Amino acid sequence: MAHGIERFFLLSYCLACCWPGLVARSQLRVVRQWAELDFVFPSEEAKRSAIAKRYYVPGNSVPIDVDVHHRQGAMRSRIFVTIPRFDEGRPMTLGTVDDQGRISAYPDYAWHDNQGLNCNGMTSVFRVAIDECNRLWVMDTGKIGEKQVCPPQVLAFDLSSDRLIYRHIVKESSYIPSSLFITPVVDVRRNGGDCSDTFLYVADVSGFGFLVLDVANDRTWRVTHRLAFPFPSRGTFTIDGESFDLMDGVLGMALSPPRTGKESYLYFHALASTTENVVRTSILRNSSFIDDVNAQPQSMNVFAEERPNQSAAEAMDRNGILYFGLMDPPSIWCWNSATEFSPRNFHPVAIDQETLQFASGLKIVNNLKGEQELWVLTSSFQRVMTGSLSSNRVNFRIHAEKISVLMANSPCAVPPKDRNHGHYANLISMKDDNHIMFRYGAVSYL
Ligand SMILES: *[C@@H]1O[C@H](CO)[C@@H](O)[C@H](O)[C@H]1NC(C)=O
Ligand SMILES: *[C@@H]1O[C@H](CO)[C@@H](O)[C@H](O)[C@H]1NC(C)=O
Repeated sequence: MAHGIERFFLLSYCLACCWPGLVARSQLRVVRQWAELDFVFPSEEAKRSAIAKRYYVPGNSVPIDVDVHHRQGAMRSRIFVTIPRFDEGRPMTLGTVDDQGRISAYPDYAWHDNQGLNCNGMTSVFRVAIDECNRLWVMDTGKIGEKQVCPPQVLAFDLSSDRLIYRHIVKESSYIPSSLFITPVVDVRRNGGDCSDTFLYVADVSGFGFLVLDVANDRTWRVTHRLAFPFPSRGTFTIDGESFDLMDGVLGMALSPPRTGKESYLYFHALASTTENVVRTSILRNSSFIDDVNAQPQSMNVFAEERPNQSAAEAMDRNGILYFGLMDPPSIWCWNSATEFSPRNFHPVAIDQETLQFASGLKIVNNLKGEQELWVLTSSFQRVMTGSLSSNRVNFRIHAEKISVLMANSPCAVPPKDRNHGHYANLISMKDDNHIMFRYGAVSYL
């Protein structure tokens, strides 16, 4: 339904243009909001057929992720959203949002139709990533609910033509029956205009590990480590007075900005956790995981201090500032990675009990002026989990603001003079190897 939409908050070419004074405690602006998602079908017939087959059940669709493609000239910027099929009734799993908030299938409806029977199309997408080479990376889990109806696949679209330019079907040795690939992070090591040296690191939220895709060699491997698991003591979530249990493993992931001659880091955390972990990307990029999926215990490390509450999505800007959501209070925070990972160094970006519940999608987007923007998708996920979603209140929102505005008075923007971002990631990942015994996953020999 379109009635929940604030029509005056239309996105024009980029956010740089036209945003008047700041709103209350949230410095973020609501760009779109919905009580219930509304879809554009290619025809009335397609819509009728989707309803008849329960491919479309109004009110069932829950958006999870957002990303934005800014375009030059007369072409308008595009907001992408994902709608994973963790249950029936989602007519499309990846789409673009128009000014009225209606979602159109990307790249077209044929990719989304015939759910579960269309392995050439998309089955279920949790999150996407847009890279600096104008490519949209789509991680398709291949699952509808718990059922693996197609193999997982990674797709890349050229955003200037919307054509598929790469497809990788994940081979069975790179996942386990419980695997669910939900968060892709792209690492492009550019050589001028050459974008072929590209890796994807993907969070496996319920296989408790990572999928690594080496695009140039068109191969994948699985990596597992204890820090990709959830913590039972952090498995209960309370948002706006409603509680639910969710034992999700690794979900939030952020890549450090490149520094010449220096190692880059992947920061990550499990949803059911209050910790933040880090791994050098050179560890993940080592193809010897093809022979043994278990990462050395010392190769991934956890920061000593913790968040006050759980967090879902996160992302890092070009200055090494990490942005993340917190469940309670519903809020978005920043942490400069040149400082210690500690609540002392966490600073609020936006806090709002109603509008910032469960930040499941969070991205740093480059606009056409070379500025960075923070985009966040929030949902009243507690109502999804407790079955209390109702179409007479706003349940899902997309927020955005320029980083320069958010950081204007933020302590996150003033790091210590003698330290670069990644300072503490470097410190904790220098530990010596003490050759302890390790094995992750079911220990069948006990
Ligand atoms: C890759 O991992 C293997 C096994 O842990 C190790 O012996 C090797 O030195 C690593 N290679 C690189 C380039 O780090
Ligand atoms: C989240 O914060 C609330 C309120 O302070 C607290 O009751 C709850 O225990 C916290 N959850 C975790 C996992 O720390």
